[in-house]
Amino acid sequence: MNAPDLASIGQRDPLDPLELVRDDLCDFVGYRSARSENLSGHVWLNANESPWPNTADGGALLHRYPDPQPAALRSALAALYGCRPAQVLAGRGSDEVIDLLVRAVCRPGADAVLVTPPTFGMYAVSARLHGTRVVEVPLIDAADGWQVDFAAVGVAAGSQPVKLVFLCSPGNPSGTLLPLVDIATLARSLQGRALVVVDEAYIEYAGSESAVSLLATLRNVVVLRTLSKAHALAAARIGAVIADAGLIALLQRCQAPYPLATPCVDLACGALDASARRATDSRVAEVLGERAILARGLASAAGVRRVYPSHGNFLLARFDDAQETFDRLISAGVVVRDMRQAPGLDDALRITIGTPEQNVAVLQAIAGAGVAA
Ligand SMILES: Cc1ncc(COP(=O)(O)O)c(C=O)c1O
Repeated sequence: MNAPDLASIGQRDPLDPLELVRDDLCDFVGYRSARSENLSGHVWLNANESPWPNTADGGALLHRYPDPQPAALRSALAALYGCRPAQVLAGRGSDEVIDLLVRAVCRPGADAVLVTPPTFGMYAVSARLHGTRVVEVPLIDAADGWQVDFAAVGVAAGSQPVKLVFLCSPGNPSGTLLPLVDIATLARSLQGRALVVVDEAYIEYAGSESAVSLLATLRNVVVLRTLSKAHALAAARIGAVIADAGLIALLQRCQAPYPLATPCVDLACGALDASARRATDSRVAEVLGERAILARGLASAAGVRRVYPSHGNFLLARFDDAQETFDRLISAGVVVRDMRQAPGLDDALRITIGTPEQNVAVLQAIAGAGVAA
């Protein structure tokens, strides 16, 4: 027998992710911008724009406010990520989307987010800015790399007012890819209690299935993607959240009126056509080859204690003297990420995979040759 349609009989569905958003935002309509009104005409005088373009405009017609969520971009992102356009919302990088989720879901001073340090810092930053407590369940530093303690995450999230669980897969800076089966089990156990947000900023480098595939059965799964890494568009600031269509509509109502700049949208649409996607695939393949070379080179370099396995476009390594290594790299003109402030990483640096020449410069500098990139 089919499940009854709860909405049609006036009952709330406890598994609807909208049940997890802040009560005071359930009927929030947000700002009705001039572009969100569904009007047509050929004389546009409803947004207090300049009727003439700027002399520097070059035909781009930037004197008009942009469409908040251009249909072409939404369709291209949906095709890229394997979901329906109504399940995707584009934002000013995934940074904006993380912030949006925290603000839409967590009641300041009451709810909490859960993170698994060491992890991407913006989850905690957005939570703190919103007056939301951060529950930490540290990663386990195991022989085969960093692991999420899924059992501990489930217990912590289930016993505290955690509304958002942030998982990063592949993890930054851990490099660890999380098994979809573990994410699914966690999400199932937290249905009706918390959203499980899977940040897949680096998934293209892992060549593995996205958690988007879980959305069909688990409505509390939320996936974050970005064009900043494999798609090489960090400065265009385009990220995306993929989730239940009702939740996406609510998030859009909470978003700033015109989050996406027209030149960036045009660039992103161009970067998602078939030939640009082939070029992305070949860049990713080159990064994977270089990642293996750099990992081998680091593992055999003097003063390197440990190189973690990585599914991202970076390597996390521990050094006998991380300060000296950092200084050597800097004097060779090579800037890497000093991780020593992160919990459990007081001897670690994170090195992004560069071009073959840049990676050689890294190894030479670490070996003490001091060759500038
Ligand atoms: C795990 C992770 N998520 C999200 C982001 C932010 O990406 P975006 O450029 O889309 O804001 C980063 C940036 O480094 C990241 O490492």
